[in-house]
Amino acid sequence: MSNVSKNVLVTGSSGFIGFNLSKRLLNEGHKVTGIDSFNEAYDPSFKRLRQQILKKDLNFNDYELNLDIYENLESIKENSDLNFDIVFHLAARAGVRQSFLDPISYIRDNTIATTNVANFVKDFEIDKLVLASTSSIYGNSGSNKMTEGEDEKIEPPSIYAASKLSGEVFAKNILENTVSNIIITRFFTVYGPFGRPDMSILRFIHWIVEGKKVNLFGDGKQSRSFTYIDDVTELLILCENTNTNCTLNVGNNSTSTLIEIIQYIEEATGKKAEIDYQERAYKDPDVVLPNLENTKNTTGWTAKTDIKSGIENTVKWYFVNRDLIKNLKYI
Ligand SMILES: NC(=O)c1ccc[n+]([C@@H]2O[C@H](COP(=O)([O-])OP(=O)(O)OC[C@H]3O[C@@H](n4cnc5c(N)ncnc54)[C@H](O)[C@@H]3O)[C@@H](O)[C@H]2O)c1
Repeated sequence: MSNVSKNVLVTGSSGFIGFNLSKRLLNEGHKVTGIDSFNEAYDPSFKRLRQQILKKDLNFNDYELNLDIYENLESIKENSDLNFDIVFHLAARAGVRQSFLDPISYIRDNTIATTNVANFVKDFEIDKLVLASTSSIYGNSGSNKMTEGEDEKIEPPSIYAASKLSGEVFAKNILENTVSNIIITRFFTVYGPFGRPDMSILRFIHWIVEGKKVNLFGDGKQSRSFTYIDDVTELLILCENTNTNCTLNVGNNSTSTLIEIIQYIEEATGKKAEIDYQERAYKDPDVVLPNLENTKNTTGWTAKTDIKSGIENTVKWYFVNRDLIKNLKYI
């Protein structure tokens, strides 16, 4: 971001990516207003811990509210004289498997909340909205090959993916022909310190370090583009310089299988994994590899962190925070 201090709104500020982005923005001298509902998609005490870290910075101020009601968003403008320069909308209910169990929450937290955020950006004529989306929307179109690019025909294969894609479509339509610029960033499996305890890398580290069986769905040969959190926050910050409406894939240009990930964790922890192979209840794609050409041409960004170093950093962070993570619910 530019050297001039900006007023930034980050939704989902106590979530994994929102927290890391907020921390970076604060370190760069910007004022950050956070929003989070602290929902129970995973243990909210972990979100509270992230919130406490951000609150140590006097330039951070946050609101506990639900974005599925527009008036909640409006109320933050009534309470403050902040004119936001940019909104990063990272709040969402993530998780493909869980989405089949509770579709309505996904529609509220993803489709309706995103529609409200886009309306807010339009109503208050905010310059820019950066909207987080997901590679999950590509589903099997990205299977066994590189995704064709951001314009390919998409048929979302899960409730989660459908709720995220519809959020994209609503937001784009709301902001078309307005003064506000919208950039949609589709992330490919993000990992790193303060990562989500419902995602594979943190769970694998936890299970391996604590000597628990590693639950692995399928044969572990499914491969993904794993993207390190610092690379993701860097791309988000670069979006400030892009003034055309666009959709960007955000991922690593190489893939790793889950078995390889487990091996890297074994090396970084010095412990051996005991794998419990389980049936793949939900058939996620075998290979997901992003086409990153458009992102590079638009922003100049490419991911810098190779998977081995990213995992080493995450394991180091795990050891410092081991007691805390051990006590989380549902890991
Ligand atoms: N982590 C990944 O690998 C990944 C991959 C693809 C896309 N994404 C997207 O990136 C964004 C951030 O993901 P994350 O991994 O940080 O998830 P996260 O669950 O850690 O963070 C999301 C935060 O949003 C909050 N939230 C959810 N619904 C809300 C609502 N209605 N009102 C206010 N707050 C609400 C949650 O309490 C949570 O703290 C999401 O949009 C997600 O879809 C993440």
